[in-house]
Amino acid sequence: MALNTNNEERYLIRGGNELKGRVRVSGAKNSVLKLMAASLLTEEPCRISNVPDIGDVHIMGEVLRHLGARVRYSQGVLELDCGGLHTFQTPYSLVRRMRASIIVMGPLLARFGRAEVAMPGGCNIGSRKIDLHLGGLEQMGAEINIAHGNIETRASKLKGTRIFLNFPSVGATENLMMAAVGAEGVTYIENAAREPEIQDLANYLISMGASIEGAGTPSIVVEGGHPLHGTEYRVIGDRIEAGTFAIAAALSKGEVEVYDFDPQHLLMFLEAMRSIGVGIEEGDRSIKVTSSPHYRSAQIATLPYPGFPTDLQPQIMVLLSQAQGTSVLTENVFESRFMFVDELNRMGCDIRIDGHHAIIKGQSRLTGAEVYATDLRAGAALVLAGLAAEGETVVGDIYHIERGYERLEDKLTSLGAEIRKV
Ligand code: UD1
Repeated sequence: MALNTNNEERYLIRGGNELKGRVRVSGAKNSVLKLMAASLLTEEPCRISNVPDIGDVHIMGEVLRHLGARVRYSQGVLELDCGGLHTFQTPYSLVRRMRASIIVMGPLLARFGRAEVAMPGGCNIGSRKIDLHLGGLEQMGAEINIAHGNIETRASKLKGTRIFLNFPSVGATENLMMAAVGAEGVTYIENAAREPEIQDLANYLISMGASIEGAGTPSIVVEGGHPLHGTEYRVIGDRIEAGTFAIAAALSKGEVEVYDFDPQHLLMFLEAMRSIGVGIEEGDRSIKVTSSPHYRSAQIATLPYPGFPTDLQPQIMVLLSQAQGTSVLTENVFESRFMFVDELNRMGCDIRIDGHHAIIKGQSRLTGAEVYATDLRAGAALVLAGLAAEGETVVGDIYHIERGYERLEDKLTSLGAEIRKV
């Protein structure tokens, strides 16, 4: 299990190729990270399949190893043995590399009555608070002490209660659901996040012996205290990767089938694509995407699931730059997720930011340039712009992209794109 920490690597893209063929979506990053954390709840070995070979999975593997778990990854299968943990502390050196590491807090607290996790710092899409995670744990009886950059939590026994989230935070819902599985009595999580990855985590926990109802709805009910055992589980397909390929096809005059994920997980996105003028045919476990020579502008706003996903906002912005007329893209989930816009403008886009709105003037002529990924999804957007641009684009800091996309360059090459890693 090797982690790519080479900051020098870049993508070299020659734009303008038509994309054609079929591409398989990998397992969902935002699900598998949580399943890995959930494995901390049992002493027995767990086996997760359809696991993508991406940076964030390797960092979560390091987090679990640091705690004392045995972690083996080979060809999409992850074997985890959390029987012999020897610490409940997760240091800043790991949390700063991946914010999602804080998801180990709930399961550690549930199993050991103690967890110490470094306070996450800022990130390139804004300051992301964790008050809902901590508030919920406190309501379940945990004592929380923040000092020296660490969050120390203790609870002799977590107790089930009713928790109302004032925003349906994905991470808070997951942390609390895992804590609740190990708590005494029943926990109700109201205004819970409804993302498919929450349902996947609930199904994983249920396969370990937990009792959870309502995952995927705003009211989740967890009956805590059931003994948990090891399990074998296949992670769902990555809807965000699927959406990224759909946009790649639309931008490149192509016709591409994207498969091995559930199109029901992307309904609002697919509707937005249709309204722009992209041909979308839904299959059972796939979509067929057909480009069109003319695209229409659109008004799109990101929202918690089932709304338009914030993780596809940067990518769809590139498509809107190729539509006739002016589009407005509103970001409602994160406070500052437009840092990449300057890079797109360097490639010829005409995008202006006004608060949490991006105003995109359509049908820009994109030309290749040297640009840098500022975060994972912004990086994907730059690759998409490179595919649609005239001439050569160099995307730097691609380690951001490799945190969440498995072999992106190989998959795009197999569809006919000219992209290579140098
Ligand atoms: C997860 C996803 C991320 C996705 C996001 C929203 C993972 C690893 N990451 O992130 O890709 O973009 O969901 O779909 O699964 N908030 C608070 N207090 C809290 C928690 C969150 O105010 O305690 C705010 C955040 O600052 C942010 C918003 O809620 O503005 C959404 O955050 P959240 O849903 O928690 O996202 P993550 O779980 O961090």
